[in-house]
Amino acid sequence: MEIALIHSYKGGSGKTTFAVNAASILSASKKVLLIETDFMMPSFSNLYLEQQPDIFFNDYLNGRMKFEDVIYTFDHIAYDIIFADRQFIPSDKVHSSDRGWFLVMRDQLYSDLKKTDYDIVIFDLAPGISFFTLTILTIADRLFAIVRPDHQSFQGTLHLLENFYKRAINSLQVKFHVIFNQVPNYDPVYSLLDEWIHIMKSKYPYLLSFENIPYDPQTAYLAAINQAQLPETNSSFIKIKDLLDKIY
Ligand SMILES: Nc1ncnc2c1ncn2[C@@H]1O[C@H](COP(=O)(O)OP(=O)(O)O)[C@@H](O)[C@H]1O
Ligand SMILES: [Mg+2]
Repeated sequence: MEIALIHSYKGGSGKTTFAVNAASILSASKKVLLIETDFMMPSFSNLYLEQQPDIFFNDYLNGRMKFEDVIYTFDHIAYDIIFADRQFIPSDKVHSSDRGWFLVMRDQLYSDLKKTDYDIVIFDLAPGISFFTLTILTIADRLFAIVRPDHQSFQGTLHLLENFYKRAINSLQVKFHVIFNQVPNYDPVYSLLDEWIHIMKSKYPYLLSFENIPYDPQTAYLAAINQAQLPETNSSFIKIKDLLDKIY
């Protein structure tokens, strides 16, 4: 079983779009579980159902339910899904900074994941630094950092590399991929990305790959009508499929 994390410094970079389409692409040949863990800004409930789910990852993390009981399986979707609760409950453990609890949770989650027969478990994480992400990073096999081609996102990703990812990559051997997303088709942007990639490569030689996903108006339009699952002809979808084919 592989644990793959989708993360970014800033929100709105395309994590959920990447996670949902990666889950669907990989589920053609593998058993996939997609877990929403953006507890501050959950969006899966909107994407998948007219009727809201009423069982959440929060219920498992707070000890109210067993792991297998928070997994949703749908006839028309090839992968399984776990939803994050849209309701903010301040007493939820996931919103705390109790290091001890996070470590116990991690060990329990890891052992529960190992008992399943999923080939790949994809975590759609909240952006930025949090105890949850830090904890999950210690059991991850692979991390996709989604970066928008703007200065703040690039600097933020460098900051994550220096202060957050670096230890995991060095000591835990997490395989790490940088994906620039929503890249406008404009030559100066591509030159800038080349410079950024050069900076990252020379500072962090263990970064495994760098990819670009172009800005695609259809992808943006489909999001506007509440559709994250992209058609097979969509250019973002094709790019995500190509890059996953190289890795898996
Ligand atoms: N390659 C792309 N081209 C155009 N729009 C994109 C692309 N990737 C993502 N988007 C749009 O950007 C917005 C944010 O994406 P989302 O996946 O929700 O980001 P996050 O989960 O990181 O907050 C959505 O409206 C989405 O459709
Ligand atoms: Mg998201």
